[in-house]
Amino acid sequence: MNIIVHLLIPAAGSGSRMKSGKNKLLINLKGESLLYWTLKSVFCSKSISWVGIIGQPFDKENILHSIKQYSKNIQWIDGGKTRQESVKNGLNNLPNNAKKVLIHDGARCLIKPADIDKCSLELNSHDAVVLAVRVTDTIKVVNKFGFIKETPNRENLWAAQTPQGFLVEKLKKAHNIAIKNDWIVTDDASLFERLSWEVKIIEGDSLNIKITRPIDIEIANLFLNSG
Ligand code: C5P
Repeated sequence: MNIIVHLLIPAAGSGSRMKSGKNKLLINLKGESLLYWTLKSVFCSKSISWVGIIGQPFDKENILHSIKQYSKNIQWIDGGKTRQESVKNGLNNLPNNAKKVLIHDGARCLIKPADIDKCSLELNSHDAVVLAVRVTDTIKVVNKFGFIKETPNRENLWAAQTPQGFLVEKLKKAHNIAIKNDWIVTDDASLFERLSWEVKIIEGDSLNIKITRPIDIEIANLFLNSG
């Protein structure tokens, strides 16, 4: 596959919803760290030429130790207080030749290499892409008192995952505009939406969950392929 795509892995969260007392990416799954499994998929994909891991400086030693099989092939980047800040640090540390970048949450360790490649390939035709799945539940918008306000049409609803892919120059510009305007977002595609820049949805796989709660660990243990 003749595509040069750089990949940034935000890994600087605290994992407070996991209640494990440490960065959830260091949790043990089948004898390896959660982040190891994410990297295994990344290095099995065919389109990624460079990988940056964005982590908290105090986690650096433990994280690098937990992915020692890959540590020579990754670049360490210090993370920030929010995911948004961490990604911005990542963008500032990309090599000068980086034209296309995928952002993939370290916590999505069930990502399939083929879905990473699908996102890379689609960046040949689009400035921004997001892996996502159709929503199967009926979603309710609820007010602060716990009463339903409305039910959006399910036909139009997708759950956004990562990888999210972008032309580097455009994503950098979007992050700079966000800082000037105090925009706070939980994913990068949201910045493009606010700017009315197009983002193409790429259909992914519902197994690509973000490991967030203890139950997700059970699911990951069931589906990780240690072969
Ligand atoms: O908290 P949440 O699970 O939504 O975080 C998504 C991803 O962003 C995780 O992989 C986490 O490590 C990362 N993150 C980060 N820097 C922060 C907060 C979260 O890189 N300050």
